[in-house]
Amino acid sequence: MHSISAAAPGKMILFGEHAVVYGRPAIAAPVLQLEARVSVSANHAGRATRILAPDIGLDAELNELDEQHPLAAAIRLVCAVLEVMRLPPCTVKISSSIPVASGLGSGAAVSVALLRALPAFLGHPLPESEVCKLAYEIEKIHHGTPSGIDNTVITYARPVYFIKNEKRGNSIEPLAVGRSFTIVIGDTGIASPTALAVGEVRKAWQTDPTHFEALFDSAGAIAQSARHAIENGAIELLGPLMDANHGALRKMGVACNELDLLVSAARRAGAWGAKLSGAGRGGNMIALCAAEEAEGIAQALRSAGAARAIITTVQENRPER
Ligand code: PMV
Repeated sequence: MHSISAAAPGKMILFGEHAVVYGRPAIAAPVLQLEARVSVSANHAGRATRILAPDIGLDAELNELDEQHPLAAAIRLVCAVLEVMRLPPCTVKISSSIPVASGLGSGAAVSVALLRALPAFLGHPLPESEVCKLAYEIEKIHHGTPSGIDNTVITYARPVYFIKNEKRGNSIEPLAVGRSFTIVIGDTGIASPTALAVGEVRKAWQTDPTHFEALFDSAGAIAQSARHAIENGAIELLGPLMDANHGALRKMGVACNELDLLVSAARRAGAWGAKLSGAGRGGNMIALCAAEEAEGIAQALRSAGAARAIITTVQENRPER
């Protein structure tokens, strides 16, 4: 049976979440241990286009899904781009190890995997630049006003330094990593929709713009310093920068007891620094540590209540400029 499968990794924000919405820089990196996978296979049983996503209990035909459903929108976008009037009978199966609404890029990873698998199934694989661009369009359905950082990190599976700029276009630079470093991700297990946290920060910013602009400036300066430390392989500088970034995020009001608890547990277990990662109010935190300490820190996070802990590495790399 004709069948094509494609995958895409998860992502984590290392520095600068929330402040990035207000034009300050942010740094994100892929999480290769997590993956969304989409397989498309010819369906000889007669059903038109069947969408199967067992993780979220979805088994439907394409025309049963709402126009705005991100999966339906992605499939229709592929058809429009490739000028396919009618899909051959097929089953699109989605599986993912990336927790939903937890800041690890589950939505963008599914989009990227689908934008790779379906066009390839139709005999017209898309170039990566097109995959990234179309994934951004689908991100808009998920989040309304996405920064574009998720689809970029996930499509190219490499760290980026990102500055949002609506007028002149976003600046997205591949980030050189002078020396590999180890991150332990701890999941509070609390789903936290990004749009909600972003909306709360906006309200607070409108109430007290001077205070919030200063917090965003501080997070932006931290991301800038972190960029130099990462490029130069000065990993020891990143721990205090993570702690400082977590402090600024707490003042923005996006931490919660569960995140603070995991951040403290990681530091007590020997992490060099720790912070929430992503929208906050739940979701995930990250801790920087020596590779040989990672297993112990993951264990400490589980003991402190983490729904799960994942050890990942940001690999040394020197992208071409
Ligand atoms: O989607 P998440 O949970 O990784 O968070 C996104 C980061 C924010 O800065 C809060 C929002 C954004 O669009 O950049």
